[in-house]
This record gives sequence, structure tokens and C-alpha cells, in this order.
Amino acid sequence: MTHLHDFIKALPKVELHLHIEGSLEPEQMFEMAARNGVSLPYASVDEIRAAYDFNNLQEFLDLYYAGMSVLQTQRDFHDLTYAYVKRVAENNCRHVEIFFDPQGHTERGVAFETVIDGILSGLNAGEADFGVTSHLILSFLRHLSEADAFETLAQAEPYLDRILGVGLDSSEMGHPPSKFARVFAKASDMGLKLFAHAGEEGPPAYVYEALDILNVDRIDHGNRSLEDDALVKRLVDEEMVLTVCPLSNLKLCVVDDLKNHPIKTMLDLGLRATVNSDDPSYFGGYLNDNYIQAADAVGLSKDEIVTLVKNGIEGAYLDEMRRTALLKDLSDTVSAHR
Ligand code: ADE
Ligand code: ZN
Repeated sequence: MTHLHDFIKALPKVELHLHIEGSLEPEQMFEMAARNGVSLPYASVDEIRAAYDFNNLQEFLDLYYAGMSVLQTQRDFHDLTYAYVKRVAENNCRHVEIFFDPQGHTERGVAFETVIDGILSGLNAGEADFGVTSHLILSFLRHLSEADAFETLAQAEPYLDRILGVGLDSSEMGHPPSKFARVFAKASDMGLKLFAHAGEEGPPAYVYEALDILNVDRIDHGNRSLEDDALVKRLVDEEMVLTVCPLSNLKLCVVDDLKNHPIKTMLDLGLRATVNSDDPSYFGGYLNDNYIQAADAVGLSKDEIVTLVKNGIEGAYLDEMRRTALLKDLSDTVSAHR
């Protein structure tokens, strides 16, 4: 335990890139499988963890969708969400903007309402008990059709006041942002914010499409933008927030070694990078682990860590009173550690 680790743990943080289904811990998976009568292809929690060894995004997604099969009742979604909020509160995370994948559930016969009512009640209970505020982002599965995405958006209409925006996730290669141009335009007309995974495995052209065709408000990941200087300049000029996920990038072989992670380079270039956990149960760490392991691997200074935290607070959809309070808490915490 170094001073720097204590410093990271003490900072008030936000998380802007988290798939709630990716926070399903193996212990919970067993518990829910037992109470719902679902059989799992694993004999133990250790066997599950051992299976989490991925060469690319798709290998992870295959297990991620299989793992979701235990989530069946509103209580399951409540428990999943509440457990995540409790964990991030312990990480001194004060606000979260989480993705959910409704199609991963409606496809197997679980009602959209069951999913969202459970998640919303988990978020409400988490705020009441731990003071963590939140927003919910409905993410479309990009390996499915745009028509399927439209259908999902229609199911969300009664919940629009509780949904911040729409996202785009799942298998990136071969499913460019332009495939979802019309449904994103519709979501924008409905007053929703727009987010898309781009440049995780996909080329810089997919990041351009997310900007030019979808008109996104943030880019999720964005790593491969660094291959294109003009794109980097544009992201810097537009102050586009990138929700970067170091341990995810390591586990999915987006980087070969955490020492080669671009998080520091992104800051040097003036990009608005933030640190996030993506799917913490699958990738081996929650928010603090992502900061700590990235900081140790690439040698982040205290100032750089504070910049990353600040980028998150500034990139979040907070009311200005809460944003100001969090920024003040951040500067007070930094002063106390000098
Ligand atoms: N779904 C959950 N995590 C994801 C990621 N990192 N990329 C794409 N889709 C995802
Ligand atoms: Zn993600």
C-alpha cells in the first residue's frame, strides 16, 4: 500500500462506463442460479473465475451473455444493482452513469419492465443508503438489427424520465455506428443523450461515424483514435469525453501490457480521458483498482490522477450544485493530502 493508493482511494470519484450486467459477481451468479433453478456450466466460483481468460471482445461477450441467464426476476436486477452501488460507494465513488442491455434479457423472455424496475429500485436504494447518485443509459446491442433497437427504444418510452440516454455496445467489428443512424436520431428527438462504444477494437473510422453520424455526447473507450492525428485534434478541440477502461483493455487484449496503456498519452495530448471499470466482475477490478493499477503501470502523477477524476466529474450529467460540491470535495481532499 503506497501513499498514492491511499490518495486514489480518498478522492471523490464518478464512474461513467459501467455495464450493470458486467458487475455480476460469480458468488451472486451461483446464488441466483440456485433460486431460479438455472443450471450453470461451472462447478464452483473458482471455476467461473478461471474461465474469465479472454483473447478479444467476442470471447468475453460470449460468457457475459451466458452469465446473464441467471437474471430473471425484478429482485435479481435489484440485488445486482444494489450490490454494485454498495461496492462503488466503498470505492468513494459518488455518482454513476450505468449502462444496461435490455436486449440481453428481452431476447430470453424477461420483460423490459422487470429489468428496468429492478435496476431503478436498486439505484434508489443505493442512493438512499450510500448517497451515490445515478443515471441509467439504455444500450443497444450492435450485433442485432436497427429494427430491434427501435423496438427496444419503444419499450423504454414509459420510462423516459428515468433514462439519461442511449448507448451502443457488444461486438464492434462489422457493426459500425452508421448502422444505427436512424434510431440514434430518434433517441435524440426524444431528448435522450447519445453515447457509443467506438475505437475499442474498431478503427478510427468508427469513431468518426460516432461523431459525424450519431452525434454522440461521449465516446466509450476511443483507444484507437490515437492512430489518427486529425481525429485526436478534433476530439481535443471538441472537448469530447472518452470513457477509458484500463483493466478491460488489458483483459480483452486491446493493450498487451498495462505498461503500454495509452491513458497517460491521452492526457498528454489534451484528451478528456476518464477512468472506469466497464465490467468489473469479469475484468478483475472496480473503480479504484482501475486507477491504482493504471497509475502504477504507466506512472501517473498525483496531478494526472486528479485530472482524470476531474474529467469524470466534468463529463458527468450532474446538476451544477452537485458538480460544484463534488469539485470542492475533490480540491479539499487534494489539499488535505499535500
Ligand atoms: N458489453 C459489455 N462490455 C462491453 C465492452 N467493453 N465492449 C462492448 N460491449 C460490451
Ligand atoms: Zn463497455
